[in-house]
Amino acid sequence: MSTLLELRGLARSFGGVRAVSDLSFSVQRGEILGLIGPSGAGKTTIVNLISGVIEPSAGSVLLDGVDVTGLAPHRLARLGLMRTFQSTAVFSARTVRENARRGAFRLAHSEWFSEFFGTPHARRRYEAAEELVEALLGQLDLSGVADQVAGSLSYGTQKALGIVIALAAQPSIILLDEPVAGLSVEEASHVRDVISKVRDRGITVVVIDHNMRFISGLCDRVVVVHHGQELAQGAPNLVLGDPGVIEAYLGASYARRHQSG
Ligand SMILES: Nc1ncnc2c1ncn2[C@@H]1O[C@H](COP(=O)(O)OP(=O)(O)OP(=O)(O)O)[C@@H](O)[C@H]1O
Ligand SMILES: [Mg+2]
Repeated sequence: MSTLLELRGLARSFGGVRAVSDLSFSVQRGEILGLIGPSGAGKTTIVNLISGVIEPSAGSVLLDGVDVTGLAPHRLARLGLMRTFQSTAVFSARTVRENARRGAFRLAHSEWFSEFFGTPHARRRYEAAEELVEALLGQLDLSGVADQVAGSLSYGTQKALGIVIALAAQPSIILLDEPVAGLSVEEASHVRDVISKVRDRGITVVVIDHNMRFISGLCDRVVVVHHGQELAQGAPNLVLGDPGVIEAYLGASYARRHQSG
């Protein structure tokens, strides 16, 4: 295996809060890596830093050995890195198909420009993108609702659409921020199968979730973060039984109980 994504000494604060500090880990080509940790541990911030949504205050991100720190999301998309959002992020007034096409045209500007001049090459790429979108909609059971506006769909279906949008860009790596949170058991198991298939197609996956059964059933390796730093990493069964990891989770739920009580 070779390294596809590498974080080196990544850090980011918000005011006085150090959301991520001195974090280093790497993601191997072709693996499914679980990124876990209690609520507020910094997981979404890490994905935001990797995907160029926010800039780090220190450290760097390397994609396939190239320093991509601070590159804008659309530039990272062209380099093969896509992410989904913890909350759904679809254009609710647009149809499912229109949303999915957003992902496919990650080379939007040059693509539309060539399309305007109608070069055969541009036409072929356009058609290939359309075919890919239809295939992905089929794989995620969204073909039947392709012409419905996204805002009319259930939360679970909107989350599945978020994955289609990301996959339509033909990424080499995809970062999924809680892809099954809020989904029914059935929907979650479907999304799990989809993620396995995504990896089978050679796409590297980083997935965040709080459901340990989901994570251990899906991931080759997990990285645990706590207070923005790495607490443990390794095979799911070993890491999830680690006393330090259990304490981090129990501590968080204990604190929550006492806050709300
Ligand atoms: N834009 C922001 N402005 C201020 N503080 C932020 C911002 N984003 C994150 N934080 C803070 O950074 C810390 C890490 O938040 P983050 O959302 O990354 O956690 P998380 O591990 O994704 O949590 P959850 O499991 O609840 O999604 C928290 O203390 C959070 O309040
Ligand atoms: Mg989060």
